[in-house]
Amino acid sequence: MSSCHKSSYITTPIYYVNDVAHIGHAYTTIIADTLARYSRLIGHNTFFLTGTDEHGQKIEESAKKRGRDTKEYADEISATFRTLWDEFDISYDKFIRTTDEYHKKGVQKAFTTMHENGDIYKDTYKGHYCISCETFFPELQLVDGEFCPDCGKSTNIVEEESYFFRLSDYEDRLLAWYRDTPDCILPRSKRNEVIRFVEGGLNDLSVTRTSFDWGVKIPESFDDPKHVMYVWLDALMNYVTALGYGDDEKNMEFWPARVHLIGKDILRFHAIYWPAFLMSLDLPLPKHIGAHGWWTRNGEKMSKSKGNVVNPKEVADAYGLENFRYFMLREVPFGGDGDFSQKALIDRINSDLGNDLGNLLNRLIGMSGKYFEGRVECDLVEKYYKAELDEVQISLDKLEPMLFELQLHRYLEELWRPLTVANRAIDRYQPWTMIKEGKTEETMALNGLIATILAKVSLMLHAVMPKTTTIICNALGFEITPESFEKVIRNGEILVPFTTAKRDPLFPRIEGQLLVEKKPAEEPKKSEDKKKEVKKTEGIALIGIDQFFATSLKIGTIVKAEEVKKSKKLLLLQVDIGEDKPRQVVAGIKEWYSPDDLVGTQACLVANLKPAKLMGMKSEGMLLAAKDADGLSLIRPEKPKTIGTPIS
Ligand code: ME8
Ligand code: MG
Repeated sequence: MSSCHKSSYITTPIYYVNDVAHIGHAYTTIIADTLARYSRLIGHNTFFLTGTDEHGQKIEESAKKRGRDTKEYADEISATFRTLWDEFDISYDKFIRTTDEYHKKGVQKAFTTMHENGDIYKDTYKGHYCISCETFFPELQLVDGEFCPDCGKSTNIVEEESYFFRLSDYEDRLLAWYRDTPDCILPRSKRNEVIRFVEGGLNDLSVTRTSFDWGVKIPESFDDPKHVMYVWLDALMNYVTALGYGDDEKNMEFWPARVHLIGKDILRFHAIYWPAFLMSLDLPLPKHIGAHGWWTRNGEKMSKSKGNVVNPKEVADAYGLENFRYFMLREVPFGGDGDFSQKALIDRINSDLGNDLGNLLNRLIGMSGKYFEGRVECDLVEKYYKAELDEVQISLDKLEPMLFELQLHRYLEELWRPLTVANRAIDRYQPWTMIKEGKTEETMALNGLIATILAKVSLMLHAVMPKTTTIICNALGFEITPESFEKVIRNGEILVPFTTAKRDPLFPRIEGQLLVEKKPAEEPKKSEDKKKEVKKTEGIALIGIDQFFATSLKIGTIVKAEEVKKSKKLLLLQVDIGEDKPRQVVAGIKEWYSPDDLVGTQACLVANLKPAKLMGMKSEGMLLAAKDADGLSLIRPEKPKTIGTPIS
């Protein structure tokens, strides 16, 4: 396996800790996660970095506005990013914070090296500064002589002593890099914008500030303690300090990055400053910089500073994390902008995922169950359905290059063609007729074709929807691993015979919007309720009565209760709600109830939850309970009620 030795270093921007994440941040991170997962699946030695950018005036001011200590505030918001990525199963290998000591050490080392290489000199900076963008602008570039050309906010006049980086010396070398590596900036159209900008001439870059001190100090050897590093020099360096640059150098073998994923708002910093810094440090340049477009609300860029954000956790909780991942990657061409709408998300789930993918698995389970007691064999697929297999292969062959070119929407579009081939084959060959005509072999082979297509599509979809595709492949009798990928995708080996079993649909149909959106807030709120504000973002507030009734709540009697061995928390209950057999419920209430207390009592059951597995046991519902400092208590009817009575 030749790909085995390749290494892939994949990064997201490090996000500012001025406020919590919104779906724009989730988007970049999900793309990066997808690439990292795919790289691992094809056997690349992969390192995936994300983290937070914590220095600079913008953060200092955000903390101040909320009356908070800057570091404490940074700790808190950084933790919300990390928690969100953990909840989102983001497979990062390292989470860097620019307030980490090793990082600061690396940045200082870089500053010294740039100085030794003759790229740093001291002078006075006179011009304008946009705090929101953390960017210097010459007067000429301002709108109406005052406003930031990027974000439109009012800028500050700055006149202060500063160290400069000789950016202007790098013009030719940068232009040569863009010219010689046409795919250094993706999508390629973005490269032209950068070239035009650099051809317009580059000024030297002010890389230290003296008017505040929330930043990395310049090295002591400069004996100039009032200077702190410009936040973008500090921040960009994270991509190598995370690998140990200037410290233990432990993971520097991963450098250069395969791709830095970013939004187009920060392309200039990554495509101009960063390569110039790297050249000054004699380090190789990244292979690709991938700049995607913006998620907007009503045409305006979604942003923490504007307060028009959608909370990604709420979307994922309502619609399913993997459905959300699929939607984000499929909906918008990489590089283009996209307006977030629940309607578009629902359409993708019901149509692409439900009809095309989920339904295909259901049809396979249904047909194999009906005609072959669940058995599926693939050895005769080629004999009867070679044309279909060939058509599928044409699509599969196109996929990998699209992924590494970051054409994720085209990747997913192409990946759906095999599903169309499968669904069309069922309609065309009509297995229900074939079986009646005694064409048993052909029917089995058709099921084999569907299974083969589902297997291949799932393997190629795994990086986007890891859990869903794991469920599908388990239903097809195999695990997703680099080995099975190699066998099924690279070597075209056929699946070993397996037996299907009935299961609930993977993508239950969604009938209406599941989130009620609040109008964007005008301006950041007053300093009270700061803590609350950090945890709760805009996006959702009230629900309609129909949403409430989407939850089926019923009275049930607990007819059996036992402890789950090896679990401190769980009890295994049988709750009778008047169906043909009691519901099995695994409940985390062992600390507060013993099985004997429970048998014969009534409780309230959420009766239409998707079944889940806890410690290997199926749980078919959830009991309502309330927990406070005194412990947990089940919610029960005040007087006994007939089992199965709906609660409303
Ligand atoms: O710029 N649509 O941090 P940041 C899509 N700390 N993506 C969006 C988005 C939107 N509406 N809004 C934000 C910084 N993003 C610096 C980066 S890197 C060395 C330092 C995503 O918190 C997108 O990836 O403002 C964008 O580039 C990034 O968040 C900016 O995050
Ligand atoms: Mg920003």
